[in-house]
Amino acid sequence: MPLTIPSRIQTARLTIRPIQESDLEAVFACYNHHEVTRYCPPTRWDSMETARNWFARIQQRVADGGAMQFVIELTAQRTVIGSCVLFKIDESSLRAELGYALGRNYWGAGYMHEALAALIEHAFSQMALHRLEAEIDPRNEASANSLLRLGFVLEGTLRERWIDDDEISDAGLYGLLARDWFARQQAIR
Ligand SMILES: CC(C)(COP(=O)(O)OP(=O)(O)OC[C@H]1O[C@@H](n2cnc3c(N)ncnc32)[C@H](O)[C@@H]1OP(=O)(O)O)[C@@H](O)C(=O)NCCC(=O)NCCS
Repeated sequence: MPLTIPSRIQTARLTIRPIQESDLEAVFACYNHHEVTRYCPPTRWDSMETARNWFARIQQRVADGGAMQFVIELTAQRTVIGSCVLFKIDESSLRAELGYALGRNYWGAGYMHEALAALIEHAFSQMALHRLEAEIDPRNEASANSLLRLGFVLEGTLRERWIDDDEISDAGLYGLLARDWFARQQAIR
């Protein structure tokens, strides 16, 4: 499977491109809001140090070939509004997990739908992945709605899967198969 990281993915309003260190302040501005990180560990993004530690972990995963981390930019304004990631890339099973977050000011405008649709299309068409997964807190309704709108199916609930800041939470496991994605795209056209 070609694991080449795309230099950019363009949509009608957005540019999705690999993160650079110079994006960190803009990414921090997105994540430094309790509603954004409420269900996404680490839940406290209260300093640039959190951002730098996060970036170091990401860089390691990218170097190992296990992840592709992107920022989402409004093309016209060249403003970073969020991020998305393919991680836990498993080449033998042709599968990866999807992660994503938008700055609070940018919710409700369909930006994440637009970004993830393009990233999913890339993952299935260019990387030839067979299956994508997402694991979210069942209380995270905005995220569940985004996944369902994209055609993900809730496949099960993993009990008390996460412990963060002494809070124990379940995880909803969502899955999307390449053949279902392509069938859906055909039906939409
Ligand atoms: C999850 C998250 C990205 C969803 O953001 P969002 O803006 O609601 O996501 P979408 O792009 O799917 O937008 C859909 C919303 O925009 C509206 N919308 C407006 N224009 C639209 C368009 N052109 N296309 C699609 N939706 C559009 C939809 O009606 C929908 O609103 P609704 O949820 O009230 O029905 C956001 O809530 C977030 O960043 N949360 C914190 C991080 C997080 O939880 N990440 C995931 C787990 S770690």
